[in-house]
Amino acid sequence: MIDQASRLRAMAQGQQADSTLFPSRVLAVTSGKGGVGKTNVVAGLAMSLARVGQRVVVLDADFGLANLDILLGLTPTHTLEHVLRGEKILEEIILDGPLGIKVIPASSGIQELTRLDTMSELRLVQGLQRVAETQDWLLIDTAAGIHDSVVKLLMAAQEVILVTTPEPTSLVDAYAMVKVIHLRDPEKPIWVVVNNAQVESEAEETLEQLQAATLRFLGKELNILGMIPTDPHLLQSVRQQRGVVELYPRSPSAQAFRAFADQLKKKVPLQKDGFAAFWKQLTAEES
Ligand SMILES: Nc1ncnc2c1ncn2[C@@H]1O[C@H](COP(=O)(O)OP(=O)(O)OP(=O)(O)O)[C@@H](O)[C@H]1O
Ligand SMILES: [Mg+2]
Repeated sequence: MIDQASRLRAMAQGQQADSTLFPSRVLAVTSGKGGVGKTNVVAGLAMSLARVGQRVVVLDADFGLANLDILLGLTPTHTLEHVLRGEKILEEIILDGPLGIKVIPASSGIQELTRLDTMSELRLVQGLQRVAETQDWLLIDTAAGIHDSVVKLLMAAQEVILVTTPEPTSLVDAYAMVKVIHLRDPEKPIWVVVNNAQVESEAEETLEQLQAATLRFLGKELNILGMIPTDPHLLQSVRQQRGVVELYPRSPSAQAFRAFADQLKKKVPLQKDGFAAFWKQLTAEES
């Protein structure tokens, strides 16, 4: 018997095939250890991309302590959970952030994504398709650590940005995260960012150590996105709940974010139906 779920799924996919496919890129930002700067990287990258005319939507998928909204001075009244319950449509919960970036508050609701009933799934897939029509990038801010739902998000994303600091604990956890991703998909591109480095040589050493370990033990080549120095401007902008890219565009951290945006724009390929591919992979049942 073809159950209702299969019919509705086929319907949603059919709609997708009929519509024009919208090229986009989907990146997830993660770390092994918490508190290393993921959310600031997401905000900085999103705003730097926006500065060069890219349309960016951010999925705040940190189901722990979500703070992207706080960082950007936004006050969400509804979250993804309301969309899944059918109380809101996706467009109604999307927040307008600085420089035109959009934020989907998903800290509550994100863990339910992989076990949705048919109607919630259809509601979300249709919402995402509509959003995809007007956006170039989907950036995903995740919780730290090797949690099941985090790993699912990472595997569904086109590419992953892994943030670490030069601290040995952060580095060891970053390696563990590379290993988890690599075991599931050896081809998944992983970009590394070393944040909060006191001096450049410290960041270089961190990158070398991580590269050497992943090459030797996993045969995995990492992509280097770059380093962000310890920057009092960044701290100041966090306190003011404004992005450093907007508040101090010439600061060292804002310059680093600009360089990251340039590099990613050049090197991450546009996917014909990036948002849809992300969605399909996220909700695909595990074999
Ligand atoms: N380059 C930097 N220079 C100065 N301070 C920094 C820098 N990067 C991060 N910080 C400080 O570290 C704090 C934590 O950063 P952030 O919230 O981005 O980390 P996170 O990885 O998202 O944390 P969590 O795992 O809790 O989500 C910032 O609020 C800021 O105070
Ligand atoms: Mg965070």
